[in-house]
Amino acid sequence: MDEGTFDRAKEFVRGLFEGDSSGHDFYHTMRVHDLARTICRQEGGDEDIVRLAALLHDADDRKLFGDNGFQNARSFMDSEHIDVEDQLYICEIISQISFKGKDSVVPTTLEGKIVQDADRMDAIGAIGIARAFAYGGSKGRAMYIPGDDPKLGMSEKEYFSNQGTSINHFYEKLLLLKDMMNTETAKRMAQSRHDYMVGYLDEFMSEWQGKA
Ligand code: ADP
Ligand code: NI
Repeated sequence: MDEGTFDRAKEFVRGLFEGDSSGHDFYHTMRVHDLARTICRQEGGDEDIVRLAALLHDADDRKLFGDNGFQNARSFMDSEHIDVEDQLYICEIISQISFKGKDSVVPTTLEGKIVQDADRMDAIGAIGIARAFAYGGSKGRAMYIPGDDPKLGMSEKEYFSNQGTSINHFYEKLLLLKDMMNTETAKRMAQSRHDYMVGYLDEFMSEWQGKA
């Protein structure tokens, strides 16, 4: 694959996500691409596959496009004349990365593990906090409701139909991600983002209770 393919992939996803405010924006994809490449350079794996899978990982997100059989990713790869084998490999990665509560899967390939780690990394830390509230706001959800407890150990079905608060999302997903990272590089990077969220939640609760 040549650099032109990656440039065109960026423009392709920019067009798909135009106007989305739920955290599935173009810049999320760019950050996942950059993080995935950083992780790949430490962990090995095919960098071209990692980069293209990262750029296309949300191109067929079912929250935005329904269950469409990776139509967007496939039509882009067809237009670039990507080998059928590579296309299948990339579609498999895309199908495995999403968080589904206790039904989340460990990707079967190193490249998949790297892209999943990069996607999860962008859901935690300072950016993860901003994305959680942006997503919650876009769905009209409350930030926090005292006495409304997080639901732990949700199945895929429960997770996707859950309507909880944005603060509960930290306990239902974001704080779990550190220990779900696949690669050593991502585990190391996740620690400081994780600690930042724990400190943030502490401060949020102190302020809420009029203590700080
Ligand atoms: P990803 O791009 O990592 O696959 P998702 O599609 O699950 O992420 O969600 C997009 C962003 O919105 C992520 O940062 C995620 O943590 C956040 N998000 C998802 N569901 C919720 C929710 N119920 N409340 C708050 N934030 C959410
Ligand atoms: Ni994503």
